[in-house]
Amino acid sequence: KRRDEGLSRDLYQLMEEASRYFQNQLKQHTDKQKVIDYLAHRGLSDEVIEHFNIGFAPDGWDGLLGRYRQNQDAQDKLLTAGMVIENDSGKRYDRFRDRLMFPIRDRRGRVIGFGGRVLGDGTPKYLNSPETPIFHKGYELYGLYELKQRHRDPNQILIVEGYMDVVALAQFGVDYAVASLGTSTTADQFQLLLRSAKEVVCCYDGDKAGNEAAWRALETALPLLKPGDQVKFMFLPQGEDPDSLVRQIGKPAFEQLIAEAKLLPEFLFDTLANRYGTDKGTLAKQAMGLIEKVQDTVLQSLLLENLAYKLGMNSAEELQRKLGFKRIDAN
Ligand code: UTP
Ligand code: MN
Ligand code: MN
Ligand code: MN
Ligand code: MN
Repeated sequence: KRRDEGLSRDLYQLMEEASRYFQNQLKQHTDKQKVIDYLAHRGLSDEVIEHFNIGFAPDGWDGLLGRYRQNQDAQDKLLTAGMVIENDSGKRYDRFRDRLMFPIRDRRGRVIGFGGRVLGDGTPKYLNSPETPIFHKGYELYGLYELKQRHRDPNQILIVEGYMDVVALAQFGVDYAVASLGTSTTADQFQLLLRSAKEVVCCYDGDKAGNEAAWRALETALPLLKPGDQVKFMFLPQGEDPDSLVRQIGKPAFEQLIAEAKLLPEFLFDTLANRYGTDKGTLAKQAMGLIEKVQDTVLQSLLLENLAYKLGMNSAEELQRKLGFKRIDAN
């Protein structure tokens, strides 16, 4: 146990040193001009680059690793921290090369991982830290620490897909967005979000993947909801993401869209109506399947009444009688 704590402490320190190193490379490296050009092309201000401690991992195999040439222990820990890769013949090299670096911090501000973007069109577009003893993707939110520095007790948090979305929104004054890391928003991440703010607004990209992510988010959030929790969904114009949109329309118009976000029940029923149209039987069955996931009985009743009304019934009781719905509290 004590060994674990010692290891973690060393990993946090190495990650902080790596972050400093990447930030310095952005200021000092002979290749820095192409990064500065890329940042300008993306429209990122010096202030926001500083706030998020964005840096640059130079091209080459041992930019970071080479700084620990005399320190075998540190090299081993860089491997454990996911900053270094070891190939089959035991040769070690930097994981992140020629990429724009976004440090990912935990809630206490410790650097636990990185997202690295290619400076152009290469693949993968983003390379992320692997799972390590201090980095658990499904459990962390990019930008939450930075948000809390500006808003101790935010009313509202926006959850977006990408690093660039968080950073661009902050630059334009919408400084209360976080991103889930890579995959869809997990139950742990929702729990953390709902503990951090009264209202959580899902704001995924305006494309097929984004719409599917929104529906998955609804399914993930449903079992966690308690009365008073507000989860909302906003849908961006086709082809836009929060980064591209806020740059076009600015903060006031973007915040107007946030204000018009759909409440979770509205998104739920609208989607089912779109999918099943006038087929009330299927719609009812699908809706019941979702409503059954709700653990909170007050909220569940509310959704049932809502559904009954949509189906032209008089009450939730009538709906339950007709469909044989078993309430969670039916004991
Ligand atoms: P997007 O493809 O929407 O990228 O992926 P983006 O955030 O808009 O990035 P830019 O504007 O092109 O720079 C959304 C998020 O999915 C993860 C990243 O976290 C990214 O921010 N992702 C995407 C990866 O982890 N790897 C990838 O190759 C692509
Ligand atoms: Mn603010
Ligand atoms: Mn996307
Ligand atoms: Mn983007
Ligand atoms: Mn995007």
